[in-house]
Amino acid sequence: TAPKALVAGNWKMNGLTSSVGEIEKLARLVAEKGAGCDVLICPPATLISNLSGKGIDIGGQDCHMAVSGAHTGDISAAMLKDLGCNYVIVGHSERRADHGETNDVVKAKALAAQDQGLTAIICVGETDAEREDGSTLDVVTSQVRGSIPETAMADNTVIAYEPVWAIGTGKTPTADDVADVHAVIRNLLMDRFGDAGEKVRIQYGGSVKASNAAELMSVPNVNGALVGGASLKAEDFYGIIATYQ
Ligand code: G3H
Repeated sequence: TAPKALVAGNWKMNGLTSSVGEIEKLARLVAEKGAGCDVLICPPATLISNLSGKGIDIGGQDCHMAVSGAHTGDISAAMLKDLGCNYVIVGHSERRADHGETNDVVKAKALAAQDQGLTAIICVGETDAEREDGSTLDVVTSQVRGSIPETAMADNTVIAYEPVWAIGTGKTPTADDVADVHAVIRNLLMDRFGDAGEKVRIQYGGSVKASNAAELMSVPNVNGALVGGASLKAEDFYGIIATYQ
């Protein structure tokens, strides 16, 4: 049986303290109308303490690979844990591109997260150029192999497949293309974790919204979504969550 889906909102560098109202609205929608999936919001780090304890799981968008130390501007997995987070996104394509994060760096961050008892949402996905030259499956394979720590477990690992060209563009791959990539990732997870690899959630991310969620979430081996723009407003985000009623 498929693992329980995880629908996660990545607010990226959006949201101010006024966003407390949005999380309260989301919690009300989930409480009143229900959710057949796990629900998570990953806000900017500055908002975590304001938003936690409101009935919605809260996660980080990134963490440093060290527990503490002289790393100006960074935050550690231990700090996220201390604020009540249970998840952290690592290796988002914006981190890989803007901060030069390699698979080795992403793996070290995932390890730091898992060492603190957090679940690491490890992001992978090809760029437009890589897709054009037909190397999608090779890129995704090396990212999955290279970014999962040796000590990772099936239950503290989530993979998010986000084609870079689909992020924030309104473009999405076809259901068949998503199915092909997710099948390859599932096989890699089975190689890595044995039978437990079936339990690892593989999210799809990239221009997911309420109007396309039903189709994308019904693709085999898609176990939820990592949502950017459409997670900022509670009603929009709940429209995606409702796919799992
Ligand atoms: O982490 C989320 C993704 O990058 C997707 O962003 O839903 O705005 O395309 P988007």
